[in-house]
Amino acid sequence: MTLDPKVKRLRELKAKSKQGGGPARLQAQREKGKLTARERIEILLDEGSFREIDAFTTQHTTDLSFNEKNPMGDGVVTGYGTIDGRLVYVFSQDFTIFGGSLGRAHANKIIKLQDLALKNGAPIIGLNDSGGARIQEGVVSLGGYADIFLRNTLSSGVIPQISCILGPSAGGAVYSPAITDFIFMVKGTSYMFVTGPDVVKSVTHEEVTFEELGGAATHNEISGVAHFAAESEEHALFTVRTLLNYLPRNNMEDPPTIVCQDDPLRTENILNTIIPDNPNKPYDMHEVITAIVDEGKFLEVQEHYARNVIVGFARLNGRSVGIVANQPAVLAGVLDINASVKAARFVRFCDCFNVPLITLEDVPGFLPGLSQEHGGIIRHGAKLLYAFAEATVPKITVITRKAYGGAYDVMSSKHLRGDINLAWPTAEIAVMGPEGAINILYRKELAEAEDPETLRAQLVQEYRDTFANPYVAASWGYLDDVIEPNQTRPILINALEMLQSKRDENPPKKHGNIPL
Ligand code: HXC
Repeated sequence: MTLDPKVKRLRELKAKSKQGGGPARLQAQREKGKLTARERIEILLDEGSFREIDAFTTQHTTDLSFNEKNPMGDGVVTGYGTIDGRLVYVFSQDFTIFGGSLGRAHANKIIKLQDLALKNGAPIIGLNDSGGARIQEGVVSLGGYADIFLRNTLSSGVIPQISCILGPSAGGAVYSPAITDFIFMVKGTSYMFVTGPDVVKSVTHEEVTFEELGGAATHNEISGVAHFAAESEEHALFTVRTLLNYLPRNNMEDPPTIVCQDDPLRTENILNTIIPDNPNKPYDMHEVITAIVDEGKFLEVQEHYARNVIVGFARLNGRSVGIVANQPAVLAGVLDINASVKAARFVRFCDCFNVPLITLEDVPGFLPGLSQEHGGIIRHGAKLLYAFAEATVPKITVITRKAYGGAYDVMSSKHLRGDINLAWPTAEIAVMGPEGAINILYRKELAEAEDPETLRAQLVQEYRDTFANPYVAASWGYLDDVIEPNQTRPILINALEMLQSKRDENPPKKHGNIPL
């Protein structure tokens, strides 16, 4: 049977649309260690689930010859598919066509996808690999970006938005990923900056490489712009799949619960001895987290940035939770500007998407010092306070050791609507640590004492016995219980189940005014 010539033409056009910028440019893409736009989609989505839309889109022109100057698809592949059977939308920029640059038609395809994702309440994933605004299209291209930024903003808190930077992301183009919830970068092949090395050199006379200015290490360790640094594109795309497993499709749904293979009643005796006898000695809070959560699996977010606080996703008896934990092994777990901002953004994400919050607390306070005060620790620390206070998801806190000063209040305390607040017997809850308190309260006595060091040791011990324990807080009802550390997992699971139908809300308002 001869194929209807019209069907034949359709097939030819579809085949042409899949060729990208042609073999030479695809080869150049591979030589840079990068996958093609379509290969990336195949790896990201469930096999065979991708359904493309707008393959016939071209630049706005009367020339419908689909030639090299007017390639089909206009440098971005868009469509939908599934990840572990759940709907997602994806756009993938094709660097082999005009360097993946964004012109009007390219922008229109992304905008259409954003509108679909928002209306249908499913996550959108952007695979970015672009030279930025298409220079030949001028202001029309800038307008296209602004149209995308608007939709990023309107979608924020309604559907999860994820950006993978898999090549360049330069100029104002960085602001779409910046508004999304999570940014993935790949070591060695991706970079983000507002102005490139040449402009930097001419303006500030600094000589920097692409990597130094905006590579994966820079944005994961120094700027805090990115959330994940992947070893390869495949690693980034697989991690996106893992991340989405913890999240609901939209803000009206709960995160998916899976069948738990780990015993919900499992006790962990290692937790009974993990706190060192010396209160100034560190331990690794990661060990506490992995001992508690299902199968020890923890997807850490921003693991290389502000490591004095740990944030990430895990499961308890199959239910998704967001974990916020001070890290005594880094800067004694102190809250500084970067840690406050990192944790605040994570708390707000979890609250947007109905992910309960588990807070593990061991914090000596906010970091003192000129640079912190001049940098605005008051404003930035307030972000974390605000984030925990406004959050209405189930909030469970466990104080493992120190909860001093304002940091006690901030870390999801009972006063900020913590639902269940627990402490280990090793908890020390007070206005400040014993040494600082003794110096203030007994300055005169210590100055006049014949043996100030013996007096100081005695006073510190008295202070510890009186204040640095969990029982004063428990006597006020600021703690619901003091628990044996090895029981933490079953008790958290029990509390989470008790809070499953929690309903709480904030007063009606247009939006709050978080101290930005
Ligand atoms: C049109 C572009 C382009 C662009 C690249 N190309 N960027 N075409 N507009 N913005 C084209 C190139 O001409 C080339 O076409 C092909 O894409 C591949 O680019 P190369 O330069 O050969 O690739 P490479 O050496 O890998 O360098 C990649 C690059 C470089 C570093 C991204 O292309 C570059 O610096 N591009 C400009 C980046 C930039 O300044 N963009 C504007 C930022 S401002 P041929 O036909 O030769 O293969 C911005 C404003 C957004 O984006 C504002 C929003 C508010």
